[in-house]
Amino acid sequence: MSHLTEREPVGVIGTGYVGLVTAAGFAELGHDVWCVDIDEAKIENLRQGRIPIWEPGLSELVERHRSRLHFSTQLSNALERARLLFVAVGTPPTYSGDADLSAVNAVVAAMPASDRHALVMKSTVPVGTGETIRRVFAEQSKGFSYVSCPEFLKEGSAVKDFLAPDRVVVGDDSDWAGDAVVELYAPLEAPLVRTDIKSAEMVKLASNAFLATKISFINEIANVCEETGADVVEVARGMGLDDRIGPKFLQAGIGFGGSCFPKDVAALKQLAGNSGYHFQLLNSVIEVNELQKRRVMAKLQKHLGTLVGKEIGLLGLAFKPNTDDMREASSLVLTARLQAAGARVRVYDPVAEQEARKLIRGVEFRSSALDVAAGADAVVLVTEWPEFAELDLGELAAAMRGDLLVDGRNFLDADRVRDAGLDYEGVGRPSRTGRGATALSAADG
Ligand SMILES: NC(=O)c1ccc[n+]([C@@H]2O[C@H](COP(=O)([O-])OP(=O)(O)OC[C@H]3O[C@@H](n4cnc5c(N)ncnc54)[C@H](O)[C@@H]3O)[C@@H](O)[C@H]2O)c1
Repeated sequence: MSHLTEREPVGVIGTGYVGLVTAAGFAELGHDVWCVDIDEAKIENLRQGRIPIWEPGLSELVERHRSRLHFSTQLSNALERARLLFVAVGTPPTYSGDADLSAVNAVVAAMPASDRHALVMKSTVPVGTGETIRRVFAEQSKGFSYVSCPEFLKEGSAVKDFLAPDRVVVGDDSDWAGDAVVELYAPLEAPLVRTDIKSAEMVKLASNAFLATKISFINEIANVCEETGADVVEVARGMGLDDRIGPKFLQAGIGFGGSCFPKDVAALKQLAGNSGYHFQLLNSVIEVNELQKRRVMAKLQKHLGTLVGKEIGLLGLAFKPNTDDMREASSLVLTARLQAAGARVRVYDPVAEQEARKLIRGVEFRSSALDVAAGADAVVLVTEWPEFAELDLGELAAAMRGDLLVDGRNFLDADRVRDAGLDYEGVGRPSRTGRGATALSAADG
C-alpha cells in the first residue's frame, strides 16, 4: 500500500542550485513544497519572487508555482507539513580535500525525534555518511528514516534534467521512506536504480569521477596532438562515433571547473585514501586538470613574448555556459596567472559578472565582447557562451591592437578566425596564422 498520499507536501532544506530546482520541480509535479534555508536574505528574495541564481527556465517555473512554493528560515514549517525532507545543503571541499559535512551535520542535529519523518539526502556526501547519520539517529532514539537520493542535474539545464533525468537512484533500507521517494519520482518515468545506501552514495561520486576522467583523458590526447600535429577535434569525432566511447565529454579545453567535479573527484580520492586505498588514476585526473588551466599562458607567451604590460581580454568567466556559477572556474586560475605575469586583464561574461566580482580582483569588467577586444593584444575565449559563436570576427579583429585569439574551448571555426586576419590557437589543434599576417610575411619575403 502506498504511504504517500497524492500531492503530499514535500520539504526541501537548502535552497541553492539543487534545492531550488528540486523544489520547483516537485511543485511542477503538483506538490506543495516547504523550503527552508538559513540564509535570511535568500529566503526574503525568494518570497519576493527574486531568484538568486541564473538557471534557464527556473524563474518561470518558480513564478508559475508561487502558490505551491513556501519559503522560510524555520525548519518547523517543513516538519509540520512534510514527511520527506530533501537535504540539499552545500558540501564544499575542506583543506584536506574531504567533503565538509558541517551543513549536513547541522541539519541532522536540528531534527527532532519522530518516526514519521525521513531525511532524503540530495547533497553529495562520502560513502558511509548515510550509515553514520542513521547511527546518530539511532543513538539519539530519534526514529528518523534515511534515504540516499543523489542528484545528477547539470547547471545550465537543471530544470530539464529534473523533469527528464537519465535515472533516479534511491538507496534505502527498504522501509516506507524509500518507497515514498520512488513514488514521488514515478511520474517522471525515469529508469530507477533502487539499491542500498552506500551504493547509491558511490553511484554519484563514481559518475562524476568518470566524467572528469574522460575530460582529463581527452585533454592529454589534445596535448599530444599539439606535439604531433594531429587535430584533437577530428580525433574526438572519430573516437566518439564508437558507441562504447560516445561523443560526450570528449571536448578538449582549458580544464573542468564548477562546484561538483573538482570537489567530488577530490572527495572520492580522499575517501579511498581514508579507507587505505591509493586511487592512482584520480591523482592524475586532478593534476592534468590543474596543468591544463595553465597551458594558455604558454600559448600567449609563444606569440607575445613577455606578458608584462600586455592587454589580455577574456571572453567568458563562468565555469561553463548557461550558468553564473563561478565556483572553481578555470577563469579564476587564468586571471591570477595573467596578473602574476604582469598582464592587464579585461573580462566580459554575459551573466556571471556579479558572481565574478566577488572572486576576482584587479581586472576590468567590460560590457561586451567587442569592448574586451578593443585595444587588446590577445583575446582568450574561456567559456563557450553561444553569443560568442555569433561574433563578427572582422569587427573583433579591427578593434584589437594585436592579432591573437586563443580559443580555450575549441569553440570557434578556426578558418573563420584566420579569415578575419587573426592568429588562431586552439587546444590540441594546429595553430593557424591569420590571412592578414600570412600576406604580410609573404610580402616581406
Ligand atoms: N550544483 C550542482 O550542479 C549540483 C549537482 C548535483 C549535486 N550537487 C550537490 O548538491 C549539494 C548542494 O549543492 P548546491 O550547488 O545546490 O549548493 P548551494 O551552495 O547553491 O546551496 C546550498 C544552500 O544550502 C543552504 N544551507 C546551508 N546550511 C543550511 C542549513 N543548516 N539549513 C538550511 N539551509 C542551509 C545555503 O544557505 C545554500 O542556500 C552539494 O552537496 C552538491 O555537491 C550539486
